[in-house]
Amino acid sequence: MTEDQINKSNIPKHIAIIMDGNGRWAKNKGYKRVFGHQHGTNTVNEIVEACVDLGVEYLTLFAFSTENWQRPKYEVNSLMKLLVSSIKKELQNMHDQKIKLTAIGDIDKLPEKVKNQLDEVREATSSYENLKLTLALSYSSREEIVNVVKAISQKVKNNVIDVEDIDHSTIDSHLYSHYLPDVDLLIRTSGEQRISNFMLWQIAYAELYFCEVLWPDFNKEHLLEAIYNFQKRERRFGKTSEQLK
Ligand code: FPP
Repeated sequence: MTEDQINKSNIPKHIAIIMDGNGRWAKNKGYKRVFGHQHGTNTVNEIVEACVDLGVEYLTLFAFSTENWQRPKYEVNSLMKLLVSSIKKELQNMHDQKIKLTAIGDIDKLPEKVKNQLDEVREATSSYENLKLTLALSYSSREEIVNVVKAISQKVKNNVIDVEDIDHSTIDSHLYSHYLPDVDLLIRTSGEQRISNFMLWQIAYAELYFCEVLWPDFNKEHLLEAIYNFQKRERRFGKTSEQLK
C-alpha cells in the first residue's frame, strides 16, 4: 500500500486508535511487557508523523484507560514515566510540525509529574492548528458520560438549562472531548475486536477497523491500509445509498 493509492480528498478528519498488543509483542520476544510499551512509543511517533503528512486533522490515542490503573504497580509506574519522557522528547517535533497536544480523561488522577509535563506541552502547543493530537489518559467513556449527566442535571436543577432543550449538542458540549468532532475512523490493533469503553458517544457513526498487527509493529503502511479500507466504504448515516447520490 502506498500513499498514491489514497484519495487525498477523502482523508478521515478524525482518527482514533486503540493501541493494543504491546504486552503480547514483548512477551512473544521473551521480554517484559514494559519493553513493548517502549517500542509502542516509536509507533506513536511514526503514526503522528504519517497523520501530519496525510493531512489528518484530529488523532486521538487511547494511551491509558481507567481500568489500566489495576495493572501491576511496576507496569503503571513505567507507563507514567514513559508518558513524561515521550511528551518531553516530542515537544520540539510538535513545535516543528505545528501539532497541538490535548488530553481527555480524569487527568487529575495522573501523577503530578505527568500532569505538569502535560500542562507544559499543552500550553506550549495551544496555538497550533496542524494536527490536533489528543491523548486519552485515565479515560473511561462510561465515567465521562456519568459526569456529563451529573453536570447537565446540576444545570437543570439551577435553572440554567431547560430539560426540553437538552439535545445531542448539549451532551457533546459537556464531554471531555467537547472540542473534538465525531470520530470518523476507529482503529484497534492486535486482533481484538472490542471497543473497551473508548469514546462510546463519539464513535456513533465511526467506521471500525480491526487489524491483526500488534501496536509496536503497526506502521505507516498499515495506517494507509486502514484509510484505504475506510475510503472503500459507503457512510450512509442511516440513509439509503440512493439518497446519498
Ligand atoms: C495496550 O497494550 C497499550 C497500553 C495500555 C499502553 C499504550 C501506551 C503506549 C503505546 C506508550 C505511551 C504512549 C504515548 C502516547 C507516548 P497492552 O499492554 O494491553 O497489550 P496486551 O493486550 O498485549 O497485553
